[in-house]
Amino acid sequence: MSSSPETVAREVRRRRTFAIISHPDAGKSTMTEALALHARMISEAGAVHGKAGRKSTVSDWMEMEKARGISVSSTALQFNCAPTGLANPGAGSASERAESTLPRAEAEPNVINLVDTPGHADFSEDTYRVLTAVDAAVMLIDAAKGLEPQTLKLFQVCRHRGIPVITVVNKWDRPGQTPLELIDEIADRIGLTPTPLYVPVGIAGDFRGLYDRRSGSYIKFSRTAGGAKIAPEELLDAQAAAAIEGDAWTAAVEESELLSEMGQDHDEEMFLAGQTSPMIFTSAMLNFGVRQLLEALVELAPAPAGRADVDGTVREVTDPFSAVVFKVQAGMDSSHRDRLAYMRIVSGEFERGMVVTHAQTGRPFATKYAQAVFGRDRSTVDTAYPGDVVGLVNATALAPGDTLFDDPRVEFPPIGSFAPEHFATLRARTAGKYKQFRKAMDQLESEGVVQVLRNDTRGDASPVLAAVGPMQFEVVTARMLSEFTVETELEPLGYSLARRTDDSSSAELDRQRGVEVFTRTDGALLALFSDKWRLQFVEKEHPDLTLEPLVAAAD
Ligand code: G4P
Repeated sequence: MSSSPETVAREVRRRRTFAIISHPDAGKSTMTEALALHARMISEAGAVHGKAGRKSTVSDWMEMEKARGISVSSTALQFNCAPTGLANPGAGSASERAESTLPRAEAEPNVINLVDTPGHADFSEDTYRVLTAVDAAVMLIDAAKGLEPQTLKLFQVCRHRGIPVITVVNKWDRPGQTPLELIDEIADRIGLTPTPLYVPVGIAGDFRGLYDRRSGSYIKFSRTAGGAKIAPEELLDAQAAAAIEGDAWTAAVEESELLSEMGQDHDEEMFLAGQTSPMIFTSAMLNFGVRQLLEALVELAPAPAGRADVDGTVREVTDPFSAVVFKVQAGMDSSHRDRLAYMRIVSGEFERGMVVTHAQTGRPFATKYAQAVFGRDRSTVDTAYPGDVVGLVNATALAPGDTLFDDPRVEFPPIGSFAPEHFATLRARTAGKYKQFRKAMDQLESEGVVQVLRNDTRGDASPVLAAVGPMQFEVVTARMLSEFTVETELEPLGYSLARRTDDSSSAELDRQRGVEVFTRTDGALLALFSDKWRLQFVEKEHPDLTLEPLVAAAD
């Protein structure tokens, strides 16, 4: 028996599903650990994410990930979070704590779903798919470096999808820019107005605490050895803060007043509309400001909402079960050689074992093997609600963008793909492996690892792979070998641009030098160009030809 719409609505209200977007090394893994620590999921920071020198490894399912310190595989971490600052043992009295937080609607613990994103720009397409599964994003910035290329790119994706963004300036314990410099940089370069919820007391490199702009109080932090435990906090009023911190306190208060004069106070409507971004200063390493981030997520980020289907009709969260597959992944580690499809629940209650329908094929789909996966840790999921991420084991029929539902039928719009910029042919080293090669190619393509292009001239033995970043090719060749025992040869092609074309233009395009036409597996005709000058030349000489830019998700 599934739960009543009221139960679902209640579960939805207490859920927050988000992802952290950042440039590599800004501190995403450290922040993930710190957030989980605050929610008391693990006892000591360092036990969740595996990087060199840390405790255990979780998502390093490929040697490549280990070697490069990146994570290709996306996973989701779920934890319960106490309603107010209770996760923090060092804070003042309960009434003081209550003062320092925003008003709460309910006292049940919140459920936080933190969906992990790949750590490298080459996997932007993958990240884009992950971002279709979240309701908010945390943009994590290194205080010294400010906005970096990958942050910018991912921010554009958030904007494109209308995802509200909370900005976190991390590594405030190290020398960096001033708060106002960082605020200006964000406003100028991406047109998002930061509205700091707190102003740091002490310049970057001398992180003493946070001035809470809404209550006027001071949260003073103390260091713990290595930042491994939750940093104790003390809550002080303005007078006490001024007495302890002197000029650093006055500077923070003045900065806050300046921000108010400029209209940079938090406004929930403008935040949800993607115009402003609540900002927080943290040191993930020292665990400073982490509780404040968690609270901001709970208090300000939106709960899961209904989603429009292909016809524009909204499937409400309290409607019968539906979900979108946003990621398919195989071979996560050598002890689990299986294929997992991750779905984000859109509506209704999910109960393990229920038989749902796969919208793309109309076939029934049994959900006996439903798991929560975070790195190597897997646990069975019996019940889940909108906003939750569930991994379905050996879901070979499912591809990213697919819909699963319980009647009435619903189908959500497909997830768009990025315009590829790297192209290479791939073939099996030995002809005897062709069958496996073909099978592997189909599987990797259906997972969305790369796009596959074919034409009659090149034949099927050496299809053309199209990718946003060249590391996607490495994933293909590595997995061909490790999962399918097929040694492959990759040969980069001299194309850098793709345009969508049609039947009537393809013959003329094929006659052009530096141009080649292919059919993508989804049926789209793509013309590849060596460079933008070749494209401009062809466009000028043949203005009648169809050459449409591929809608890059990040545009
Ligand atoms: P990523 O997932 O975004 O790539 O970043 P990660 O958390 O791995 O952090 C990158 C480096 O920055 C790590 O140092 C980490 O300790 C450090 N770091 C993260 N947050 C903070 C912070 O708030 N303050 C300071 N000072 N450093 C921070 P590393 O030397 O590369 O690795 P490790 O040996 O410390 O693990």
